[in-house]
Amino acid sequence: MSEQNQKLTTASGRPYAENENTQSVGPRGPLLLQDYILHEKMAHFNRERIPERVVHAKGSGAFGTFTVTHDISQYTKAKLFSKIGNQCRMLARFSTVGGEKGSADTERDPRGFAVKFYTEDGNWDLVGNNTPVFFVKDPKKFGDFIHTQKRDPRTNCKSPTMMWDFWSLNPESLHQVLILMSDRGTPFSYRHMNGYSSHTFSMINAANERVWVKFHFKTAQGIKNFTNDEAATMKSQDLDHAQRDLVQAIDRGEFPRWNLKIQVMTEVQAKAFPFNPFDLSKIWPHADYPLIDVGTMELNEVPANYFAQVEQAAFAPAHIVDGIGYSPDKMLQGRLLSYPDAHRYRLGVNYEQIPVNRCPYMGRNYQRDGHMRVDDNGGSSPNYFPNSVDDIVVDQSYKEPAWSLESTLADWYDRNAPGENDHYTQPGWFYRKALNEQDRKNLINNIAGAMKGIEGPKKDMIINRQLCHFFRADIQLGLGVAAGLGVDVSDFMPASQSQSV
Ligand code: NDP
Ligand code: HEM
Repeated sequence: MSEQNQKLTTASGRPYAENENTQSVGPRGPLLLQDYILHEKMAHFNRERIPERVVHAKGSGAFGTFTVTHDISQYTKAKLFSKIGNQCRMLARFSTVGGEKGSADTERDPRGFAVKFYTEDGNWDLVGNNTPVFFVKDPKKFGDFIHTQKRDPRTNCKSPTMMWDFWSLNPESLHQVLILMSDRGTPFSYRHMNGYSSHTFSMINAANERVWVKFHFKTAQGIKNFTNDEAATMKSQDLDHAQRDLVQAIDRGEFPRWNLKIQVMTEVQAKAFPFNPFDLSKIWPHADYPLIDVGTMELNEVPANYFAQVEQAAFAPAHIVDGIGYSPDKMLQGRLLSYPDAHRYRLGVNYEQIPVNRCPYMGRNYQRDGHMRVDDNGGSSPNYFPNSVDDIVVDQSYKEPAWSLESTLADWYDRNAPGENDHYTQPGWFYRKALNEQDRKNLINNIAGAMKGIEGPKKDMIINRQLCHFFRADIQLGLGVAAGLGVDVSDFMPASQSQSV
């Protein structure tokens, strides 16, 4: 270390002569305004906080390596997938959704599962959750939904009444509500859960042919969940349990791994699919669309500085690379706009230049100036296009094939269109196929426990409305929750059946 580097200095490089006592008029006198070091220390401290993420504020991150283990080049021309053995550096950030930055890691909530691949085609972000579906299927509903997961405007407390009021009025939520209320709603740690793109994306191959794709990260650690009671106990013992678990596992050299797989649907299959294949409240059954192996993600490096590399990380579903494309999924379309907008607010317009976000292989462009522009700002090169000076080109070979959607531009959601209004079949599958007997008991207990928090003059209306959804997904589920709530089910059952209950 050079002699200069050993010196404590102000941000402008002036060495400190004193770092603990402020200049004063005599040993007991008032302070001198000229002690600039005091001002600088206080002023910088006052500005240490940036806005937390409006959702997914509490999170944990780690760097790692992605390795391609299987050849999927028939589906995509992305360079990362051009041959088995290809690797790239990556960053993962896991999070809870509704809580603030200081909230408990063990809250019942979906978990965010965001991954940034630093590929030679550019940075590719998959910003998913640990669930394959979501609560709403139109982005216009997102803000309203999130309000119900945050604090009540008057009590400033979380409100089961708001949550169940919203869910009961939005039957498309049921699928995700069941997953949330199952023990997967309280994962033991971030290492012990799967990740899903949830959305349908597309892949485009070298012949410019498109398939629709869903991404699945399957944990190699195995699924491990807390029960409701265990989660509550851990909440009282360690608010940061998942953060600590991730750091300690990597520090021990137990690098967590996930196997990335894809489901693939052709454009022809999409037209015949009984549900809307772009509906975020639906899955594609494994039996019809089996998982195809792709590669392995291993997390092997704890970021040296949480704020610089995790808090300032900006993940966006819009960040794709050549060979990966969007889809008409309405929620995905809404998210394409929302994330960069959030980043400009949270981190500033030049957030892409923050080292953790910067693309190592980025080309050149004409974006200039703005707050905190800290690179050479394009130097003396032209700041407009077209120009007669530089050699920057727009390359038509990156153009995607057009979508054929058989739709008119101004279509609104048509509830009665085939495959659009069935909110119960897949939740029924979930209850009957995905869960074993113990899982079902826990699910029912968890739902009943959560719904007992509903209060106020609309309580019975909300409970009855939500019970109808459970009954429509599976009669045993409806009966179980009703019993857990002590509700007389005769209102929900045909007379012949109600007597035997
Ligand atoms: P399968 O019968 O082929 O597989 C069931 C799936 O459910 C597995 O992926 C399993 O994941 C997952 N699962 C098990 N328990 C839970 C839980 N508590 N919460 C969330 N997922 C769980 O399923 P199908 O493809 O025929 O779909 C049936 C239902 O399974 C769906 O309606 C959906 O609710 C659920 N599911 C389906 C997925 C899909 O992409 N097809 C993905 C995840 C869930 P794992 O292998 O990790 O144990
Ligand atoms: C974070 C909006 C749906 C996963 C965020 C943020 C916003 C947002 C504004 C904060 C971004 C930031 O400040 O960095 C939306 C909107 C949605 C939506 C408008 C629907 C229209 C979803 C869905 C998923 C998801 C469906 C998962 C499939 C995430 C994750 C993060 C996040 C994982 C945290 C990313 C990180 O770790 O930095 N969302 N979201 N969101 N969202 Fe969404």
